[in-house]
Amino acid sequence: MLSSLKAALALVCLFALTVDALRSRRMENFMKGRGQTSHRKRDLPNVKRDVPTQWATLPIDHWGNEGTFQNRYWYNATYYQQGGPVFLYDVGETNAEPFTAFLDDGESFHSAVMRLAKRYHGVAIVWEHRYYGESLPFPINNETTKEQWQFHTVEQALEDVIYFAQRFSFPHPDSRTASYRPYPSTTPWIFIGGSYPGIRAAFLRIRNPETIFASWASSAPVEAQIDMSSYWQAAERALPRNCSNDWVAVTKYFDEVFTNGSDQEIFDLKARIVAAEFTGPGGNTSLLKELDYPQVVDQFEVLDLAVYLMDPLGDFQDNGLPPVQTFCNILETVNGTRPAYSEGLTARFNITVALDAFLIGISETNPETFATTQSSDVEDADSLAWEYEFCSEFGFFMGANPHNNRSIQSQFESLAVFQQQCLDAFPEGAVPPEPRVQVLDDKYGGWFMNPTHVFFTNGEIDPWRTLSVASFEENAPKRIGSLNIPACYTAPDPSSYFGIVYPGKTHAKDLASSFAEPEEAFYTSLALFQMALDEWLPCFLSKD
Ligand SMILES: *[C@@H]1O[C@H](CO)[C@@H](O)[C@H](O)[C@H]1NC(C)=O
Ligand SMILES: *[C@@H]1O[C@H](CO)[C@@H](O)[C@H](O)[C@H]1NC(C)=O
Ligand SMILES: *[C@@H]1O[C@H](CO)[C@@H](O)[C@H](O)[C@H]1NC(C)=O
Ligand SMILES: *[C@@H]1O[C@H](CO)[C@@H](O)[C@H](O)[C@H]1NC(C)=O
Ligand SMILES: *[C@@H]1O[C@H](CO)[C@@H](O)[C@H](O)[C@H]1NC(C)=O
Ligand SMILES: *[C@@H]1O[C@H](CO)[C@@H](O)[C@H](O)[C@H]1NC(C)=O
Ligand SMILES: *[C@@H]1O[C@H](CO)[C@@H](O)[C@H](O)[C@H]1NC(C)=O
Ligand SMILES: *[C@@H]1O[C@H](CO)[C@@H](O)[C@H](O)[C@H]1NC(C)=O
Repeated sequence: MLSSLKAALALVCLFALTVDALRSRRMENFMKGRGQTSHRKRDLPNVKRDVPTQWATLPIDHWGNEGTFQNRYWYNATYYQQGGPVFLYDVGETNAEPFTAFLDDGESFHSAVMRLAKRYHGVAIVWEHRYYGESLPFPINNETTKEQWQFHTVEQALEDVIYFAQRFSFPHPDSRTASYRPYPSTTPWIFIGGSYPGIRAAFLRIRNPETIFASWASSAPVEAQIDMSSYWQAAERALPRNCSNDWVAVTKYFDEVFTNGSDQEIFDLKARIVAAEFTGPGGNTSLLKELDYPQVVDQFEVLDLAVYLMDPLGDFQDNGLPPVQTFCNILETVNGTRPAYSEGLTARFNITVALDAFLIGISETNPETFATTQSSDVEDADSLAWEYEFCSEFGFFMGANPHNNRSIQSQFESLAVFQQQCLDAFPEGAVPPEPRVQVLDDKYGGWFMNPTHVFFTNGEIDPWRTLSVASFEENAPKRIGSLNIPACYTAPDPSSYFGIVYPGKTHAKDLASSFAEPEEAFYTSLALFQMALDEWLPCFLSKD
């Protein structure tokens, strides 16, 4: 990655590229975890995929007359026997093509959707969400108009699945002319998704129980909320206390300097953070030397620098503690030169020692400073489409909570900054003045929702758990997961939900598992969901 960057450096003015790079870097970090499923691409097995692409013709506007577009999906009917269920795996806010790997229960990994198809003799489908990948009613870029964006709503995209379910057919393997038509009236449709698709799984069971018979909602933040300061608070809670203490202290110091410091103090701190950010492991300053440093320092805004200080948590929602533990070890031992103290460096010595060590930690855990800025046009379009969704409907602004005295996030990353970013990213009037979260929460119940035939799974330290039915945030209902399988068409006691929280686990880890690194959560979830389906499926009444 770095080598391709080098090639680019030779062609483009270094300074211009750097400013661009840091802008998109900042965006990316701001968006971190908001392109919620993108990480799971990395977990995908590297298998040959030769599943033919299918296209469904869908109305652009289900409640109007705007013509149609082509929506992608894929299926595998290897295990299908007449009357078997449909298992739909929803990919959500990203290009779904890589997830066709889930349609092959191959030799190196298992996916939930194919295991279920095998056990119940069903057909497995991988579904791409409108406005992502190649399921595009309109081209998605910075010139997409308000008129074009307006059909990118939660309700339109849910209705896509319902419309599709009423029309899906696939050829009979032994006949040129006959085809199977697994209508929802005669066939149980079972919806599986993690993260945003997990939200859709739960919503659809509430919205269209006559079409979606059962759902598995993994890591689903079903409570739409503008203020999601809980996201980084969840990460802070998971850190070792000494590391958290120092992170809190460095954050406070940063905010103090940028609020009340002299110009010189501000410049000095900026310069140190920029130097740390563009220095690699082992004190490799080759990139820094290529920059016009320190002249370049003034080009950085306080928000860029605030984001750099959060770098070590960049992949926390996917990989949890191990990567940030490496950073904490460097910080707490001052790069291996001292023993770690349980109270941390600020309490033991002073903020100077802590900040020095913190910045060494940034450099030493910073192998791909520029590499992360190299995203493709498709990925850019996907993240813009997701930004449209949270700016209009979900909120999920991961800003700092001004009342949290253990914040590891600068107060400069305020909710207002997120809101402004939403307004700047889209044409005038395309997104509302603030996300309409109440509409979704009123309709679906948020974290109070209590649908029948839905299985909820979460990771204990997943920041998205804070807005799920398993949330223990101050304002949450604090429901308890229950493994008792609810009877058919019966909701659990509302103080509980049917599902499980996996200790120490992060985001949507239970939907597939490689043989090389077996994921216990996958096997547990699959077994539980199968027990539930064994209970529920016999209650399906064919209406034909
Ligand atoms: C369908 O699944 C079976 C079993 O995992 C696999 O052998 C086959 O290659 C898959 N077909 C496609 C088109 O992926
Ligand atoms: C969209 O992006 C392109 C390429 O980055 C740029 O040239 C163009 O000016 C942008 N258009 C708008 C409306 O921002
Ligand atoms: C800036 O200084 C004022 C006045 O001393 C103080 O009240 C405030 O807390 C300081 N702000 C920060 C972020 O330290
Ligand atoms: C941190 O320690 C590593 C390994 O001993 C060393 O290579 C590196 O130069 C040190 N970094 C700094 C900034 O001291
Ligand atoms: C230092 O980083 C550059 C990329 O910025 C890389 O090309 C080079 O190999 C690194 N040097 C060492 C000694 O690792
Ligand atoms: C202190 O830091 C070290 C190094 O990161 C860590 O191993 C240890 O668990 C921490 N102790 C406490 C009490 O946080
Ligand atoms: C911070 O602590 C270190 C280590 O004890 C000491 O050398 C240094 O003088 C202290 N700095 C300040 C500003 O107190
Ligand atoms: C932080 O807030 C908690 C609860 O609001 C309070 O108990 C604690 O004393 C505060 N700590 C500091 C250092 O202000």
